[in-house]
Amino acid sequence: MKGKFITFEGCEGCGKSTQVRLLSQKLDELGVDYIVTREPGGSDVAEQIRKIILDAKNTSMCDECEALLYAAARIQHLKEIVEPALEKGKLVICDRYVDSSLAYQGYARGLGEEYVEKINSAAMSSFCPDLTLFLNISPKDAFARKHGADEDDRMEQLGLEFHEKVYQGYLAVAKKYPRIAAIDCSGTKYQTAEKIITLLKDRGII
Ligand code: TYD
Repeated sequence: MKGKFITFEGCEGCGKSTQVRLLSQKLDELGVDYIVTREPGGSDVAEQIRKIILDAKNTSMCDECEALLYAAARIQHLKEIVEPALEKGKLVICDRYVDSSLAYQGYARGLGEEYVEKINSAAMSSFCPDLTLFLNISPKDAFARKHGADEDDRMEQLGLEFHEKVYQGYLAVAKKYPRIAAIDCSGTKYQTAEKIITLLKDRGII
């Protein structure tokens, strides 16, 4: 496909939204043709699936159902939003993607990498990101920065122990796939943004 596909990953409160915003500002300055989107969601049908997944009232949802709903939202979003944009030669920036499923459902929920890879086969092969930016900050530090978890969000309510497992999952996934770059977020948000721009330039993405 003509365009490039980059994804942002990390634990809750790692600063993805801020970094996506700062990157967008820079891309506007540089005149890059890009879109910003997110998962789960990013399209009409996928946003409806997102509501079901994140609704704090859905306490009976089993892990497999959760993983399949993320995968369902993903393929819909890929076909409806990501693929057409890439075909037009745009740079696609997606807030969360398949590595979230590997870390949250595969590792933290314990469904295993193989299961998650199987139900996300298109995302793992035909729509593999050119680069994934993993904002590397532990959940403990991230929650402290964010001042706690969102009460209405089923995933954020899972507690520090769960999110620590997610973090360990991300570290394992980042080791396995060379497309994933771990970004040290210990500096200011502007220093992190600079690191991201430098990396995108080095990799020939912008
Ligand atoms: P969101 O409010 O977008 O979280 P954030 O701002 O931290 O990105 O909610 C997405 C939630 O869904 C978040 O808790 C991570 C989780 N998630 C998974 O568990 N698996 C997935 O495949 C994806 C895409 C997200």
